[in-house]
Amino acid sequence: MLSSIFLSYALFLCFSHPFCSARDTITKDNPIKDDGSQGLVSAGGKFELGFFPLHGRGSSGSYRRYVGIWYHNVTPRTVIWVANRDKPLLANHTGVIAISQGTLQVLDITSRKSLWLAEIEVIQSFNRTVKLKDDGNLVLSNALAAVLWQSFENPTDTFIPGMIMVKNLILTSWNDEDDPRTGNFTFEVDEDNQYIIKKSDADYWKSRAPNGNSFSSGEMPAAVAWLLSNFSKSSLSYNETEVLPRSGYNYTRLVIDFTGKLNLLVYTHNWSSTWREPSDYCSVFNRCGDFGICNSTNKPICRCLQGFKPQLPEDWNSGDFSGGCLRESNLCANRNDTFFSLKVKKAPNPDPQTYVVNETECRNICLKKCECLAYAYTTICFIWGVLSNLEESSSGHNLYARIARSDLDQISRAQLDSARQVKNLIDTSEFKEEDGKGIDIPFLDLQSILDATDNFSDANKLGQGGYGPVYKGEFPGGQEIAVKRLSRVSVQGLQEFKNEVVLIAKLQHRNLVRLKGYCMKGEEKILLYEYMSNKSLDFFIFDHTQSVFLNWDMRFNIILGIARGLLYLHQDSRLRIIHRDLKTSNILLDEEMNPKISDFGLARIVGGKETEGNTNTVVGTYGYMSPEYALDGTFSVKSDVFSFGVVLLEIISGKKNTGFYQSKQNFSLLGYAWRLWTENKALDLIDMNLHESCNKNQFLACVNVGLLCVQEDPNDRPAMSTVVTLLDSGTAIPPTPKQPAFVIKRGNSSTASTSSKQEAYPEITNTLEEGR
Ligand SMILES: *[C@@H]1O[C@H](CO)[C@@H](O)[C@H](O)[C@H]1NC(C)=O
Ligand SMILES: *[C@@H]1O[C@H](CO)[C@@H](O)[C@H](O)[C@H]1NC(C)=O
Ligand SMILES: *[C@@H]1O[C@H](CO)[C@@H](O)[C@H](O)[C@H]1NC(C)=O
Ligand SMILES: *[C@@H]1O[C@H](CO)[C@@H](O)[C@H](O)[C@H]1NC(C)=O
Ligand SMILES: *[C@@H]1O[C@H](CO)[C@@H](O)[C@H](O)[C@H]1NC(C)=O
Ligand SMILES: *[C@@H]1O[C@H](CO)[C@@H](O)[C@H](O)[C@H]1NC(C)=O
Ligand SMILES: *[C@@H]1O[C@H](CO)[C@@H](O)[C@H](O)[C@H]1NC(C)=O
Ligand SMILES: *[C@@H]1O[C@H](CO)[C@@H](O)[C@H](O)[C@H]1NC(C)=O
Ligand SMILES: *[C@@H]1O[C@H](CO)[C@@H](O)[C@H](O)[C@H]1NC(C)=O
Ligand SMILES: *[C@@H]1O[C@H](CO)[C@@H](O)[C@H](O)[C@H]1NC(C)=O
Ligand SMILES: *[C@@H]1O[C@H](CO)[C@@H](O)[C@H](O)[C@H]1NC(C)=O
Ligand SMILES: *[C@@H]1O[C@H](CO)[C@@H](O)[C@H](O)[C@H]1NC(C)=O
Repeated sequence: MLSSIFLSYALFLCFSHPFCSARDTITKDNPIKDDGSQGLVSAGGKFELGFFPLHGRGSSGSYRRYVGIWYHNVTPRTVIWVANRDKPLLANHTGVIAISQGTLQVLDITSRKSLWLAEIEVIQSFNRTVKLKDDGNLVLSNALAAVLWQSFENPTDTFIPGMIMVKNLILTSWNDEDDPRTGNFTFEVDEDNQYIIKKSDADYWKSRAPNGNSFSSGEMPAAVAWLLSNFSKSSLSYNETEVLPRSGYNYTRLVIDFTGKLNLLVYTHNWSSTWREPSDYCSVFNRCGDFGICNSTNKPICRCLQGFKPQLPEDWNSGDFSGGCLRESNLCANRNDTFFSLKVKKAPNPDPQTYVVNETECRNICLKKCECLAYAYTTICFIWGVLSNLEESSSGHNLYARIARSDLDQISRAQLDSARQVKNLIDTSEFKEEDGKGIDIPFLDLQSILDATDNFSDANKLGQGGYGPVYKGEFPGGQEIAVKRLSRVSVQGLQEFKNEVVLIAKLQHRNLVRLKGYCMKGEEKILLYEYMSNKSLDFFIFDHTQSVFLNWDMRFNIILGIARGLLYLHQDSRLRIIHRDLKTSNILLDEEMNPKISDFGLARIVGGKETEGNTNTVVGTYGYMSPEYALDGTFSVKSDVFSFGVVLLEIISGKKNTGFYQSKQNFSLLGYAWRLWTENKALDLIDMNLHESCNKNQFLACVNVGLLCVQEDPNDRPAMSTVVTLLDSGTAIPPTPKQPAFVIKRGNSSTASTSSKQEAYPEITNTLEEGR
């Protein structure tokens, strides 16, 4: 029977048969013979099916013939599908593509063997047809046009538009560039909808699962996911603006090549690869084995995590890292484990996540479970029970890996330091005692601060104070810290500086910004403070759009808070600090809009240790300085009281002391307030935004206290304890103020604004700064 089929094909010649040129269908009576005549061309002329030759390296350079599909109009020939990939037709043999025994087959006429067949249930039926469609799909259907088999479901190494990536669809690489035999790599999708490249059945690359978190590997671009889903909107959880309409993918193919790379190729004048994975050594799945970490710029690219050593040292040293690393000591041995930080681009999928309040809690969850090998905290707490597939990246996520303390002790000094910094930064946020003993404020090395602030970049600059600029720094663990750089203004030696820092760190009050660390190296002297999300007071009160957020109760609360903070500095702390640069931009606001004084104690660091007296360097801000300080350099707690008075009047009026011009009247805010007070119109001072929320009695008490604070003679100004009492009581009738300082009318010169005496002190103006 079979021999008669072969015989009939051998005799069947195509010479003048009308279907021999440019047809798209094979029927039982109309096969394709391997005689140089054309095969099938799809109706739109896009694809072609037929025999094609290869001179592969794979079979000792011999000439072999295959049946395949390629683009009809693209040169060089670009094959997207091969039927008999593992059984080529030899050079001096003749072949045929035919419907035989009810299915599509590639037959070797010479040796009378079937080289390939479309695997379907073979039932005799002579009415079956095979058609090459214009999307490149080769379809075998029965007389009722039901599809029995199609090349789109039986691919070689190429995925083209119209195919759909389902669970049992597998692309298999060629063996070599010009050898289509089954290669070592496959591409498929798994149960979790993760796309996977496998090398001899082992994971070689994995895309991130569609619902995967950002720690998991391999980004799959929307353009590729869109193509793999046959342009199905419902399956596209990606950003639609990143994909083209279906017709934009006409000459696009996705190929798993013989080296294991998945390539997205697009044809314009030639084929160019627009995306490729694995893109480098480290994108290969678990390149460095368990507990190893990959860094493609390093040599070798793999290293073991701290506290681990290669499991198979010989393999490892010869460049085969797949064995991974082993832990040197037992974890959980005496409940003495700690963590070191890693910045990772890629990590395994974490265990189910939990929501916790903060990083400390996340860390504790991990510490308590012996199985927990690492944690990371973003807004959720991620924990890991395995550490594989790790890739390092300086811009990656922070992950904290568990380590026995004893191992950590052995690790190189540098690594230890960085781990300590992380630990310290976490620990310092736990300080609670108001004036506790033995507070050990952490020392940070300069490099970690440079890293955290992008080398003190302007983009990270939060502001410029009298004592130096402030930057926002982001430290390992995502902790945000305000970084104050004193280098240029500080005159102290290092030991002196350190002593001061330790003292200032002991000042703890709810209305003072908390000092969290310090750094010194060479000229650099740096202080680290808690970061305040709601900026500074000046941002709110002097801005029409922002000032509406501060109603009277909030403002009164802020005034009281500042007064209490200042009282603590002046009187209640052991150090008796004079601030010397109190101003609205130095009052920071926490998330509940509680005021916190910043820059306190810096005068000690910057100007030495004078407690009261005279200084050569006037540090302060024009508009807030008392006359005796600005003009004579004399400072005392009463100069702070003066600054407080200015701040208070600014808060309730919403106007700056300096740069304030009441129409046609050349007064400062202090002069204006004084005039309204003497004319019994103090309520006119009110910030327009406060009309509704204002408590009149409190407001008048504030004006009164404010004016008392800015009196010319320091001895007339109340102490902060009196200020707090007056404000707290609210209703008590305070003493009547005397005329404030600086009510001198301005002259024609727009710069002469404090006193004519100023010209005699040119050095002041050099260090003064305009209040913000
Ligand atoms: C085909 O060529 C091989 C050697 O290349 C030879 O051994 C064989 O006999 C040839 N077959 C035919 C049918 O000519
Ligand atoms: C095959 O096709 C012929 C002619 O179109 C038809 O008469 C015959 O019934 C078909 N056979 C089957 C099994 O469908
Ligand atoms: C892909 O989508 C097209 C258009 O919706 C459809 O005709 C075709 O059958 C789909 N392909 C597969 C393999 O489902
Ligand atoms: C495929 O695997 C075999 C056996 O492991 C190996 O000899 C060959 O070099 C591999 N080919 C490629 C292209 O990696
Ligand atoms: C989608 O991507 C475009 C371009 O990358 C971007 O402008 C747009 O904001 C994104 N939309 C969403 C919803 O992410
Ligand atoms: C893609 O192919 C379709 C159908 O053949 C055609 O209508 C469309 O214009 C083509 N798109 C491009 C960009 O060539
Ligand atoms: C492919 O074509 C692009 C322009 O379409 C050209 O820039 C590039 O050099 C070409 N590449 C090759 C290998 O010819
Ligand atoms: C790789 O290691 C080098 C040297 O240890 C380091 O400087 C670099 O930041 C690392 N690369 C990444 C991407 O983390
Ligand atoms: C934990 O380890 C550190 C360093 O190895 C050691 O100093 C300390 O005493 C240990 N603590 C406990 C509770 O074992
Ligand atoms: C973290 O949260 C816990 C539990 O709510 C709390 O006790 C602890 O003080 C918090 N730590 C920090 C640093 O905020
Ligand atoms: C900081 O400066 C150093 C040395 O000038 C440079 O190597 C590094 O890339 C800089 N880092 C940043 C974040 O700008
Ligand atoms: C202050 O910060 C908190 C938390 O960041 C925020 O919810 C609130 O809106 C901020 N208040 C103002 C007035 O911006």
